[in-house]
Amino acid sequence: MKRYHPLLVALHWVLAIMILMSLVVGGPMMAEMESTNRKKCLH
Ligand code: HEM
Repeated sequence: MKRYHPLLVALHWVLAIMILMSLVVGGPMMAEMESTNRKKCLH
């Protein structure tokens, strides 16, 4: 079975950690923010 390049595997797991961290940090941050707060909007 052909293996992916170790650099791609490393990048994949760095990305995975960053996605999970953004959920862990961003979820509660958004939850405690008023829905009228403009910072909660993307635009
Ligand atoms: C929370 C984020 C993520 C988690 C927990 C995760 C987890 C995993 C796991 C467990 C595997 C199987 C590894 C193995 O077979 O040794 C995998 C494979 C893979 N992931 Fe992710 N991943 C995440 C995000 C992403 C993202 C954002 C991309 C693409 C932009 C991606 C692309 C891939 C690819 C291309 C494979 C290989 C599939 C194959 O075996 O052909 N992953 N990932």
